[in-house]
Amino acid sequence: MGKALCIILILLISLNCAFSWKKDEFRNCNQTPFCKRARSRKPGACSLIATDVSISDGDLVAKLVPKETNQENDENQEKPPEKPLVLTISAYQDGVMRLKIDEDQSLGPRKKRFEVPDVIVPEFLNKKLWLQRVKEENNDDGSGISSVVYLSDGYEGVIRHDPFEVSVRESGKNGKKVLSLNSNGLFDFEQLREKKEENEDWTENFKSHTDSRPYGPQSISFDVSFYDADFVYGIPEHATSLALKPTRGPGVEDSEPYRLFNLDVFEYIHDSPFGLYGSIPFMISHGKSRGSSGFFWLNAAEMQIDVLGHGWNDESVLMLPSDQKRVDTLWMSEAGVVDTFFFVGPGPKDVVRQYTTVTGAPALPQLFATAYHQCRWNYRDEEDVFNVDSKFDEHDIPYDVLWLDIEHTDGKKYFTWDRVLFPNPEDMQKKLAAKGRHMVTIVDPHIKRDESYYIHKEASQKGHYVKDATGKDFDGWCWPGSSSYLDMVNPEIRSWWADKFSLENYVGSTSSLYIWNDMNEPSVFNGPEVSMPRDALHHGDVEHRELHNAYGYYFHMATADGLLKRGEGKDRPFVLSRAFFPGSQRFGAVWTGDNIAEWEHLRVSVPMILTLGLTGISFSGADVGGFFGNPDTELLVRWYQLGAYYPFFRAHAHHDTKRREPWLFGERKTELIREAIHIRYMLLPYFYTLFREANSSGIPVARPLWMEFPADEKVFSNDEAFMVGNSLLVQGIYTQGAKHVSVYLPGDESWYDMKTGTAYKGGVTHKLEVSDDNIPSFQRAGTIIPRKDRFRRSSTQMENDPYTLVIALNSSKAAEGELYVDDGKSFEFQKGAYIHRRFTFSNGKLTSSNMAPATDAHNRYAPDCTVERIILLGLSPQPKNALIEPSNHKVDVESGPLLLRKGMAPSVLTIRKPNVRIADDWTIQIL
Ligand SMILES: *[C@@H]1O[C@H](CO)[C@@H](O)[C@H](O)[C@H]1NC(C)=O
Ligand SMILES: *[C@@H]1O[C@H](CO)[C@@H](O)[C@H](O)[C@H]1NC(C)=O
Repeated sequence: MGKALCIILILLISLNCAFSWKKDEFRNCNQTPFCKRARSRKPGACSLIATDVSISDGDLVAKLVPKETNQENDENQEKPPEKPLVLTISAYQDGVMRLKIDEDQSLGPRKKRFEVPDVIVPEFLNKKLWLQRVKEENNDDGSGISSVVYLSDGYEGVIRHDPFEVSVRESGKNGKKVLSLNSNGLFDFEQLREKKEENEDWTENFKSHTDSRPYGPQSISFDVSFYDADFVYGIPEHATSLALKPTRGPGVEDSEPYRLFNLDVFEYIHDSPFGLYGSIPFMISHGKSRGSSGFFWLNAAEMQIDVLGHGWNDESVLMLPSDQKRVDTLWMSEAGVVDTFFFVGPGPKDVVRQYTTVTGAPALPQLFATAYHQCRWNYRDEEDVFNVDSKFDEHDIPYDVLWLDIEHTDGKKYFTWDRVLFPNPEDMQKKLAAKGRHMVTIVDPHIKRDESYYIHKEASQKGHYVKDATGKDFDGWCWPGSSSYLDMVNPEIRSWWADKFSLENYVGSTSSLYIWNDMNEPSVFNGPEVSMPRDALHHGDVEHRELHNAYGYYFHMATADGLLKRGEGKDRPFVLSRAFFPGSQRFGAVWTGDNIAEWEHLRVSVPMILTLGLTGISFSGADVGGFFGNPDTELLVRWYQLGAYYPFFRAHAHHDTKRREPWLFGERKTELIREAIHIRYMLLPYFYTLFREANSSGIPVARPLWMEFPADEKVFSNDEAFMVGNSLLVQGIYTQGAKHVSVYLPGDESWYDMKTGTAYKGGVTHKLEVSDDNIPSFQRAGTIIPRKDRFRRSSTQMENDPYTLVIALNSSKAAEGELYVDDGKSFEFQKGAYIHRRFTFSNGKLTSSNMAPATDAHNRYAPDCTVERIILLGLSPQPKNALIEPSNHKVDVESGPLLLRKGMAPSVLTIRKPNVRIADDWTIQIL
């Protein structure tokens, strides 16, 4: 939502609100002193060397000191002598190295630099390997010595002393480098210090705002190199391509770095390195020769990252064997410490798994949350809600969740209802719940400063608000007018907030109500860059500049805790957040914010969602239809057809737009949208299985093609098509009136059109005709997809429906697939209450076997569902019948439709009513 600042802008600064991005509202690198400074540094500028290298408490520790400590330095006469920095390297299981660099606390800096708490999961710390010894070796180039520690099988951590460089390499003296830091000598660490003279000016101005910067300059910057890399990816959130384009170097003119600074950007443009609502400083590289590696910097201050194009540095200080490709990057942050993680891969899935061992795997959502959501700013009143709800039934379109935006409240006071518009909110929710449907209301972090509002009264009395630089409650302008902002970095305040979601405290709520957190960057309409001043103060004297990018994360965390507490820990929460930070995947879903109803925004939604998935946040989506503006019906239909494959599938619209519920555009369009939504409902068993995979391994639901085909160079920069799991490839249609589309299908095996069953060769670009009734989507040969084909009002009503298995055979006439099922709502699956089946087809025989570990108590969950159809793609000649074991009965093999739809039903082989239970072991032999 984020909503038009239009009205407010017009009122406050009488700007006219054209339909375009307000670039001048936001700082660029040149207006940001730490960024400008770091960018102007020359390679080799860092003169630090590593000394006193030793092992302490299982870590490698060293000091970083300037090379000429005692020498006269005429350039920087007035610069005080640099204190040594402390460097620590730790190794963790599974190929993770952690590097920290901070000021030496024993020398007593004025203030402790901020380290972001509650992001690293406790299980990760238990994976620490106790380093025993460090060996020294001479550098080949005669540049002195390096210290080497064991990291994991096949990898070592290396610290070169002079000039200092930290790297991970394959084991052995001549082992290839994988990742390194400060190879270009751009490292810089501004230590906290006293003002040199009374008149030294530390303030910074931007537009009408002044940042007092009481602690002065404290930025950090360094270069990171990725070896054997063709491309780098990650570091959301930007509306840009999946493979990150260089921001400096030959042929790049005047580009901003990729900015990571959570902002409420009004009408963002579709191709820009500009920072949007969330920030994840995690980058993945990928290349044909080695695979992937990853680098993560845990830091919540403003960050800027340059991707340096090949040849950016003429006098490269780094000599490489000419056949080793490398991508260099420059990382700059305004504050904090160096707390970084190196991931060795070597596969793309390995890197994502390694990253999520640090920040946590995604939560497993409730089943309903993986279905279709209907949202609008605003469904006006109860009548509107009931009307929309019944129209879905009338038009035979399933949906699971109806959303209420800010106007449902009494004067934008969250946890309240406008009792004129919503006199009976509990009854309203119960009526929807009777059809298995849920509701979501919005709860934002800005609290109306209204003495009669209980939340404000308590929060101000208890001192729960963020303070301004003078120590008073920070007061900013947002939807309710004058507002204060809860200080969620404090665990006590989070716990207080969580209690507000109990059914007693949140009057008018029921257990079928879930929550949406918006504006949590935080958005402050009259603040610098529409956010909070950097010198505002949080719990523990932490400046807002130090934790800005994590503000929304803590709010999301506290809200998810609230829903957990409300259900006494029985139900999985559902909370959608706009702002995010590493670890947000543990608390719920995110969406890509206030996009625009334009074709280019439809296109960019795919790289944005894929990037979120690569960086741990699997459960994401873009507003279907586009938030601002009115999509023409062709665009709207195409958006539904693509959105049906987003992990998070929600339609949403700004309140100035025309109504656009699926039945408002004539019968044909309604039919097309219905079909798109039906496809999602059919595939829910497959999606849910993928959500469980993400929950156990971090591997995202929606994947770039190169994650599944890491050796196929042709797909490394493809972000128009993507994989849903390992079995489905989807290609969006991003232009109006498209008649043809070119689709590259990777790999050596065939692909089957999901609608017609037609086989297409892999490794080839196909020029396909495009029709209005679907976008190209293909099942990969060698896979089995579980579906539920009967259409109901909502996912919850499909619980006992039978399954269809779609088997796509490869050239060896084989295939395999999985199905995960649990109760769809509780945490009982963690105690073994689930089924996890593996289906394999080979030698003409389909086998269903248990793939859950034997220790789990499987009788705790055993659905009665059966398999009603088995569809075989790629089998010929047609067999007559099939023998089912252990029941030892025969059924016919017939031809039947691939999709149960009127009008179009190309024949494929079908085993009808095999009547086996999904939870049992069985085989079906084709005769
Ligand atoms: C999987 O999801 C559940 C429920 O959301 C969560 O409690 C659990 O921590 C997740 N598992 C992992 C490994 O993160
Ligand atoms: C065919 O699929 C099976 C099951 O996924 C797999 O084990 C096999 O390697 C595949 N054959 C080929 C030629 O790709």
